[in-house]
Amino acid sequence: MYNYGKHFIDLEDIESVKNVLKNENFLTCGPKIREFEKNICKYTGCSFSCAVNSCTSALHLACLSIGISLNDEVIVPAISFAASSNCILYCGGKPVFCDIDPNTMNIDIQKIEKLINERTKAIIVVDFAGQVNDYERLLQIKEKYNLIIIEDAAHSIGAKYKSKYVGNITDLTTFSFHPVKNMTTGEGGAITTNDEKLYKKIKLLRSHGLTKDFNERNEKVSHQYDIISLGYNYRISDILCSLGISQLQKLDSFVEKRKELVTYYNYKINEKKLNNYLEPLKYIFESSHHIYIIKIKNTELINRDLLYKKLHKQNIKVNVHYKPIYLFTLYKNLGYHKGLCPIAEDVYNKIITLPLYYSLNNKDIDIIIDKLHKIIENIISTSNLIKRFEKIDPILYGFLQNDFISGKEFSDLYLEDLLNERSESISLRN
Ligand SMILES: Cc1ncc(COP(=O)(O)O)c(C=O)c1O
Repeated sequence: MYNYGKHFIDLEDIESVKNVLKNENFLTCGPKIREFEKNICKYTGCSFSCAVNSCTSALHLACLSIGISLNDEVIVPAISFAASSNCILYCGGKPVFCDIDPNTMNIDIQKIEKLINERTKAIIVVDFAGQVNDYERLLQIKEKYNLIIIEDAAHSIGAKYKSKYVGNITDLTTFSFHPVKNMTTGEGGAITTNDEKLYKKIKLLRSHGLTKDFNERNEKVSHQYDIISLGYNYRISDILCSLGISQLQKLDSFVEKRKELVTYYNYKINEKKLNNYLEPLKYIFESSHHIYIIKIKNTELINRDLLYKKLHKQNIKVNVHYKPIYLFTLYKNLGYHKGLCPIAEDVYNKIITLPLYYSLNNKDIDIIIDKLHKIIENIISTSNLIKRFEKIDPILYGFLQNDFISGKEFSDLYLEDLLNERSESISLRN
């Protein structure tokens, strides 16, 4: 079976976690957190890093640190995981959805300026599937309108924009260390910034708004601390950070392997002439290749959900990243509606995410592409046969089409016999 994504853990990772578990002093609030944060700073080149328990928490703290509150508007791409815009709602702000570039699936920068008004405080950009955005243009918009850019880099740790690592480009960057991401801590996240004031706010809010952390309290009088803001428990444990420390050392090799696999996928798609039906996302900037997305060129011919079902039946557990956020009930109930970002809605119906992870190899890709090829050939031949019913028996055509799209298998022989039978009975009637 092939999942669309999977973590990779080696003996070094296990040893690293074991060492923390054997340590009698700290499972949380200990030295591994600081060490992980320092290593994130060293890797990305940024000045400050705060490790937290998820990217969702990181996004929430990033929004709080820049003071997003009631009536503030924040621009966010229409396609991402919902956490990218839920963080605005947590703070009482209003997500303003911007359509995407259909080639890269990143935010369409040309459409941002039209969405800016006096209430706009920030732009949350997502390095979709791992590909970085055009930060030169985004930073120009930031300067022109005095906005803050939060980079949701849940997909893009390990990528660079013009020789700078992600994490050191925008005002605030958030990372995810969920198991399907490029590196993992099981669950976890981090925020990076070069702004000390923002860092201090984030650190405070990560742990209940307490003025002294556990170690400072332990060293002095432990009950003499103050709570100066309404904070949270978004802390990550030493156990998870020790896994992060070990994974981060391998991140460059993880990204390199993903790049090779994507190159091989693209080669195989062309070799099998599947490029007549499918197109991979375009890479204009560097990517850390978190997920491998292909777009169906003609969804009249190849229905995405049918392709999804058939691949799942063959144990290729593909996925779809993602439905436009505002189409979820939560957002519809807030007044967002279909048609808001037409390109995102169109792209959503065309995309499918094929398996991509470190332990995958070229032979696995051969198997996946062979199966994909056979499924597509089968869909096209069955579709063409069903299409022949359209003129001779439109009602039956409608039933067959519905059954086919919902995953019912038809043999060519069965359809040909049925077609002959219907043609004969219609010509007899005439
Ligand atoms: C773009 C994006 N942002 C944020 C998140 C949330 O990450 P986490 O699961 O670490 O909270 C995800 C998770 O899939 C994501 O894909």
